[in-house]
Amino acid sequence: IIKVATMNTLDTMLQMARDAMDRAYVPYSKFRVGAVIKAQSGRLYAGCNVENASYPVGSCAEQGAISAMVLGGDLKIEEMVVMGDGENLTSPCGACRQRIREFAAPDVLIHICDRTGVRKTMTLAELLPVSFGPENLQR
Ligand code: THU
Repeated sequence: IIKVATMNTLDTMLQMARDAMDRAYVPYSKFRVGAVIKAQSGRLYAGCNVENASYPVGSCAEQGAISAMVLGGDLKIEEMVVMGDGENLTSPCGACRQRIREFAAPDVLIHICDRTGVRKTMTLAELLPVSFGPENLQR
């Protein structure tokens, strides 16, 4: 799902994340996750988790949003929303932190949300300190 950012971008991102959660394919965990990226172009890209009968083959919401972003022609994440239900924070899994790292600067804000709004905002560097990224491959 792609949308162009409007005035209150965070509210738009939250609504897109709720819509993405509603479309999540989660017959096994029943745990819905939505993710929305605001990219450098101002476009918003959403993703949901998509599970599989072969459990490890399932994909995370963040992964889907990153795929949509790359297909849309954006390569820089400016801000991100990750949304899930439950008492505990739905913070991005370790693998997704690394996936986000590929396209985001250390100071990029990641809003950890539930359907009612933002619960905690953290930078990528806080979520993934001393990370390994594209620059580390330069020698
Ligand atoms: N999940 C995500 O989509 N993103 C996360 O950051 C955490 C976990 C999904 C994967 C699986 O479909 C379900 O949540 C339960 O782990």
